Amino acid sequence: MNEDQLLYEGKAKSVFRTSVPGELKVIFRDDITAFNGEKKDTLAGKGEYNARVSAFFFQYLEKNGIPTHFIRMEDERTMVVKELTMIPLEVIARNVAAGSIVKKFPFTEGQLIEPPVIVTDYKSDEHGDPSINDDLILALGFLSADGLRDVREMTLKINKLLKDFFAEAGIQLVDFKIEFGRSGDTIYLGDEISMDSMRLWDEKTGESLDKDVYRFGKGDVLSAYGKVVDKILQTL
Ligand code: C5P
Repeated sequence: MNEDQLLYEGKAKSVFRTSVPGELKVIFRDDITAFNGEKKDTLAGKGEYNARVSAFFFQYLEKNGIPTHFIRMEDERTMVVKELTMIPLEVIARNVAAGSIVKKFPFTEGQLIEPPVIVTDYKSDEHGDPSINDDLILALGFLSADGLRDVREMTLKINKLLKDFFAEAGIQLVDFKIEFGRSGDTIYLGDEISMDSMRLWDEKTGESLDKDVYRFGKGDVLSAYGKVVDKILQTL
C-alpha cells in the first residue's frame, strides 16, 4: 500500500509527502499536455525518459556547483527530492529564438541569441503565467535583490553547462525553463530538466527532440525523447 500523501498533482508530475521530514517524492507520470492543458495524452514510457534525463542533469549540475533538490531515484520514475518552498517563477533561458519569443518580438525562428537572454514568467494558472520583470519580482517579495542576482547567475551557469554538454551530444540547446525554491537561506534548483521543459534541436538534421514534437504533431514523441536519452548515454 502506498502510504505517501499526495501534496500536489501537476500536469505531468505528482508530488508526495513521505514519512521522512524534509523529503518529498516526485513521480514523473506518462501524461503529456500542451497549450495550457488543451491538448492531453498519455504516452507509456514518457515519464521514465523525463525522470532519467532530469536525474542525470540534476546530478551533473550538482557536481558543477549548482545546489539542486535531487536526493536519489527510488525507481525509474520516482525521484526523492529535498522539500523546498517554491518561488513562483518560470525562469527561461534562450540561446536561439523559437516559440513565444518569436511571436512577441521581431526575432526570426532559429536566430542565434548571443549573449543568451533570461526571461521570467509569473507561474500562476489563474493569471495565465504573465511575463514579470525584476521590479515586480522585488515588489511582490518573490526574491530579494541578492536572490535575484543569485537566480540570474545560477541560470546563466546552468545554461552554459547544459549547452556545452548538449553540443557534445550533437544537440543544440535552444531554450529551457527552470524553477527554483528555498530551503533555509539557500536557493536550490527544483522541478525538472527534461524534454518537456527544454527545446532541443538535432544539430545535423534540425529536427525537434522535445515537447514541440507533441505540441505541433511533428512525429513520434517517444522516439524523439528516446533519441535524447541515447545521445546523452553515447556522450558519457
Ligand atoms: O513557450 P516558450 O517559447 O515561452 O517556452 C520556452 C521554453 O520554456 C520551452 O523550452 C518550453 O518547453 C519551456 N516552458 C515550460 N513550461 C512552461 C512554459 C515554457 O517548460 N510553462
